Amino acid sequence: MDAQTFLRSLEEEILQHDAVQHPFLKRFASDTLSLKQIQIFGLQHYQLVKIFVNYMTNLLPRIPDEDAAELFREVFDDEFGQHTIFRSHPSLYRNFLKGLGLPEESWGRVKFLPETTQYLEAHLELTREADFIYGLGIVGPAHEFAIPTMFNDLITGFKNNLAVDDEDIEYFTCHVVQDEEHALVFNKLITRHVETEANQKLLRDGAMTCLAYRKTFWDGLQRAVFEETISS
Ligand SMILES: [Fe+2]
Ligand SMILES: [Fe+2]
Repeated sequence: MDAQTFLRSLEEEILQHDAVQHPFLKRFASDTLSLKQIQIFGLQHYQLVKIFVNYMTNLLPRIPDEDAAELFREVFDDEFGQHTIFRSHPSLYRNFLKGLGLPEESWGRVKFLPETTQYLEAHLELTREADFIYGLGIVGPAHEFAIPTMFNDLITGFKNNLAVDDEDIEYFTCHVVQDEEHALVFNKLITRHVETEANQKLLRDGAMTCLAYRKTFWDGLQRAVFEETISS
C-alpha cells in the first residue's frame, strides 16, 4: 500500500474506532447534563490538556527530518498562543473551567481517575521512549486527526446544557478547526516515513495504542459522570 492510501485507510479506521465513537461522547451530546456532571468532565479532561504539548517536545528531538522543528512550529504557535500566553490552549481551557464556575483552587486539587493517570503516564512514556514513527502515530492521527470528531459531541453537550458564551467553549471550538490543520502538518511528516509495511505497522500501532488509552479514559468518565453522580 502506498503512503497516501495507507493514511486514508488509517483515518477511516480511526473515525470508526470505539474511542472516537464512544458511548460517553454520545450520551454527553444527547443527555440532559447537570453543571456538576460537566464540571467532573472538565476537571479530568484538563489534566490531558495541560500535558499535550509535552508529547510534542518529547517527540521532536527524535524526528530525523531537518524541517521537523519548522513544521512543528505551526502547531506550537497555536498551542502556546502565539503572541500572548493568554491564548495558549491550557489558558483557553481555564476560561472554560471558570465559565463552569470552578474556582482556581479546585483546578489543582483534582482527584485523578485511575484511567486519567494511566493515560498520562503511558503517553509521557511512549512519546519519550518509543520509535518516533510510533510517536507520530500517537500525536498525529490519534490526537490531531481524531479530536475534531470527538469534540463535536462535547460541544453539542455544552450548547444543550450550559448558558455559555462562545468564548467559554473556545478551547473546544478552536480545536475543531485548528486540529484539521495540525493533522495535515503531521501527515506531511508521516508520508515520508510510511513507505514500508513495517513502518506502516509501527505508525498504526502507535495510533491504536493511543486510542485504546483514550477509550479507557472515556470509560472512566462514563462511570464518573453518569454512574457515580446524582444529577442535580
Ligand atoms: Fe491544543
Ligand atoms: Fe492540535
